[in-house]
Amino acid sequence: MSGPNTDYDPVEVTPLQADEVAAAREAGIAAVLAARDLDELKQVRLEHAGDRSALALANREIGALPPQARKEAGQRIGQARGALAQALAERQAVLEVEHEERMLVEETVDVTLPTDRVPVGARHPITTGSELIADIFVAMGWEVAEGPVIEAEWLNFDALNLGPDHPARTMQDTFWTDPQDQGIVLRTHTSPVQARTMLTRTPPIYVVCPGRVFRTDEYDATHSPVFHQVEGLAIDEGISMAHLKGTLDHFATAMFGEGITTRFRPSYFPFTEPSAEVDLVCFVCRGSGLAVDGGQPCRTCRGEGWIEWGGCGVVNPRVLQACGVDSERYSGFAFGMGIDRTLMFRHGIEDLRALFEGDVRFTTAFGSDIS
Ligand code: DAH
Repeated sequence: MSGPNTDYDPVEVTPLQADEVAAAREAGIAAVLAARDLDELKQVRLEHAGDRSALALANREIGALPPQARKEAGQRIGQARGALAQALAERQAVLEVEHEERMLVEETVDVTLPTDRVPVGARHPITTGSELIADIFVAMGWEVAEGPVIEAEWLNFDALNLGPDHPARTMQDTFWTDPQDQGIVLRTHTSPVQARTMLTRTPPIYVVCPGRVFRTDEYDATHSPVFHQVEGLAIDEGISMAHLKGTLDHFATAMFGEGITTRFRPSYFPFTEPSAEVDLVCFVCRGSGLAVDGGQPCRTCRGEGWIEWGGCGVVNPRVLQACGVDSERYSGFAFGMGIDRTLMFRHGIEDLRALFEGDVRFTTAFGSDIS
């Protein structure tokens, strides 16, 4: 007996038909196998198994089928999707292994290859030279003292017996900070550290003070508006010029070697009385004034046999008094040398500017070795 067919609606949506599903499945699997790397596989996954893929669309249509047709269509589509998912997973595993192996090969580092790394620099000879000088004095029981480079006029000049009208003020061409009447200068020498030390400590005092100083000098092979000095100050009972001479001879020998001593020439500094210029036995000709190869005058000392090194003297009692030291009980000596000049002699540097231009080839030539 036949009647109306209420079980089966022959109108099936196209993507749900068996051959359509089979075609989508085959196309998907073929694409999976053709994927050459993980990126391509990702595209394949989107296209053939993603939300908008033919199989996903078909899957969504199942609900619209009459109940009797759902099971068959559901199985067909489910199998197709399962087969595709499995193909994707297998290909994924294969491609991951391949990727891993390729990375190991491509990212291999040959540690034996020469490097093009930037060479390491070296500490600057002024730094290492200042430390060497400090070490020579620390070994004698002295201390290292420091002061600011922007200094009070009073400490840079007045406390050192260089009153406002003292003609020697003009010996040092000074950088004043604006406005000039506020009395702040870039220190013209390291001598204000003497005053600072006496004002803050009680004798006995034995300090050495390396540091940067400033003068309105030209910038050329022998001058620079910024340079370096080392100051020494000893205050104790019974200190005399003899202690000064012995100390500077030791300093010279420690810096330049055995047999290099000093001589004093009378001079004038407002902060010392008596005062002297210190000369060093020329360490190239060792005082002979003659070049090593005979007859010609020595180039380093220009035939003098001596090299000017710095200034020194017995501390003027007026300076002791200005800085609160009992000048009846204590006396002292002081000296000041140019560090840059000292290093130029010591290392045969012909142009002062080499010390300031920051060429790393220059500093590395010294390495970090200072001896
Ligand atoms: N301050 C002096 C200058 O820069 C150098 C100097 C000379 C320092 C004699 C001293 C000294 O301590 O006693 O020219």
